[in-house]
Amino acid sequence: MRPQARSQLALFFILLCPVNIIGLWWAVGSPLVMDPNSICRKTKRLAGRQAELCQTQPEIVSEVAKGARLGVRECQFQFRFRRWNCSSHSKYFGKVLQQDIRETAFVYAITAAGVTHAVTQACSMGELLQCGCESPRSRAPPRPAGTPPTDGVRWEWGGCGDDVEFGYEKSKQFMDAKRKKGKSDIRTLIDLHNNEAGRLAVKNYMRTECKCHGLSGSCTLRTCWRKMPQLREVGERLLQRFNGASKVMGGNDGNTLIPVGQNIKPPDKQDLIYTAESPDFCLPNRKTGSLGTRGRPCNSTALDVSGCDLLCCERGHRDETVELEENCLCRFHWCCVVQCKKCSVRKDLSLCL
Ligand SMILES: *[C@@H]1O[C@H](CO)[C@@H](O)[C@H](O)[C@H]1NC(C)=O
Ligand SMILES: *[C@@H]1O[C@H](CO)[C@@H](O)[C@H](O)[C@H]1NC(C)=O
Repeated sequence: MRPQARSQLALFFILLCPVNIIGLWWAVGSPLVMDPNSICRKTKRLAGRQAELCQTQPEIVSEVAKGARLGVRECQFQFRFRRWNCSSHSKYFGKVLQQDIRETAFVYAITAAGVTHAVTQACSMGELLQCGCESPRSRAPPRPAGTPPTDGVRWEWGGCGDDVEFGYEKSKQFMDAKRKKGKSDIRTLIDLHNNEAGRLAVKNYMRTECKCHGLSGSCTLRTCWRKMPQLREVGERLLQRFNGASKVMGGNDGNTLIPVGQNIKPPDKQDLIYTAESPDFCLPNRKTGSLGTRGRPCNSTALDVSGCDLLCCERGHRDETVELEENCLCRFHWCCVVQCKKCSVRKDLSLCL
């Protein structure tokens, strides 16, 4: 079976799962390792809107799956120097997702953002029938505020703008899927809020890019289009939101969220929210999903989260010199092979005790 088709099926499985969309994803490790047949059988139980989407738009489902994977990879990049490193170790990851901590908020947000991004990107690349470049709209021409309309330059929308609205809607349809009954409404409100925060981290940061047209370098016409931020940029922005995440609690009616703490401004739509404090992730703990930081490389000169003091939870570290094989003396042969030698390099590492 083509890998694409397989990941589609994997997503079916995830959509089916009433417990926790992302949690299940992780629980099985890579979606590609799942047995497609068992997933196929389960798709029969799919109901309503999602079943319709899965049957009528499988190629979108495949982009959704890709986006979720990219989101998780971005999570691992952003958290690479932290105690909790978004590691996909299945059992432990599932535990983290069952809680209501900042880390959970980040995973939901970056996954919803990844899906928005991947679907929109596929539209721009012409890979989907349902969407394409952003259609020329009736909005005002892209002339920036402050440029006089009499400067002889015409401004027009053109090129291929990213249709982020489409990606946003698809991410919403798939990621905000109904949860199992019995799960608290507050928990659902929080997950939906963090999903939205992730999508907005893409949608609210569209840039305008322009190109000049004109004879011999003159610029008599500028065509402009809207472009999404890179997923890396989205990840960085969400990491800032993670650092400034707002603690909330459920109101008495079970349907509202109230900020915890006095004089704290209520979180806006782009903020990440959580209800429970994170564990310290210092030692392995099955209950909290902590793998512990023993053996993790740390930076003995850094004072931030990547520094040995913080990362090793003050247990100390040992220094070790390791020999690594690296490519070196690479030469390019026309055309198109690169040949390298293997060199061993010594690296000094600090590892947490
Ligand atoms: C994340 O941390 C775990 C345990 O602390 C470690 O085994 C794993 O290699 C780390 N992953 C990455 C990508 O650094
Ligand atoms: C360790 O931290 C220092 C100070 O923050 C930084 O300059 C350096 O690049 C870090 N080293 C690594 C390997 O990340």
